[in-house]
Amino acid sequence: MRDQVSVLIPEEQIARRVAELGEQITQAYAGREVCVLGLMKGSLVFMADLIRRIPLDLTVHLVRVTSQREQAAGRVMTEIVFSTSVPLEGRDVLLVDDIVDTGITLSYLLAHIHEHGPASLRVCTLVDKPEARKIDLHPDWTAFPVHEPLADRFLVGYGLDWMERFRGLPFIGTIPRPTPP
Ligand code: IMP
Ligand code: MG
Repeated sequence: MRDQVSVLIPEEQIARRVAELGEQITQAYAGREVCVLGLMKGSLVFMADLIRRIPLDLTVHLVRVTSQREQAAGRVMTEIVFSTSVPLEGRDVLLVDDIVDTGITLSYLLAHIHEHGPASLRVCTLVDKPEARKIDLHPDWTAFPVHEPLADRFLVGYGLDWMERFRGLPFIGTIPRPTPP
């Protein structure tokens, strides 16, 4: 299966970009303690590298958002599960995501976190596909914006999966967009 993947962003380029983002984020939060919240599971590899580039006091948490889209009814039922109970009130929360696509998942989660009264809430994403957006949403930091026609390909590797596969690839690659079941 791995031989079907073409390299889009090589390992060295990711490392350079993550280091840059780490510096920017460190400056933005200077003197503060950061509450890093990673969206499972796609952000795991990115977050692991990123937090090692932020030499500030920080805590790390994980959150999972599951959504069931009922096409006919046009309804989205979403459940939010935190890895451990995360005190968000008064905290400087940095949400780390893998890909912002339509923005539906992220906007739902942001609204939920806002209700808990964080001191600040910002978003850092590995990939942004702005043309696919259905909800107006702009991440504070983006490692790699991906535009059409590339956004038509499915991205895998460096945490990103297709049916749970390819997360361990050290680079970001593409596979032809899988046909929906
Ligand atoms: P949305 O913004 O609510 O549409 O959800 C975006 C989520 O869909 C991301 O967090 C990914 O988990 C997944 N996703 C979207 N595009 C891709 C892709 O090209 N490769 C892997 N996962 C993707
Ligand atoms: Mg995701």
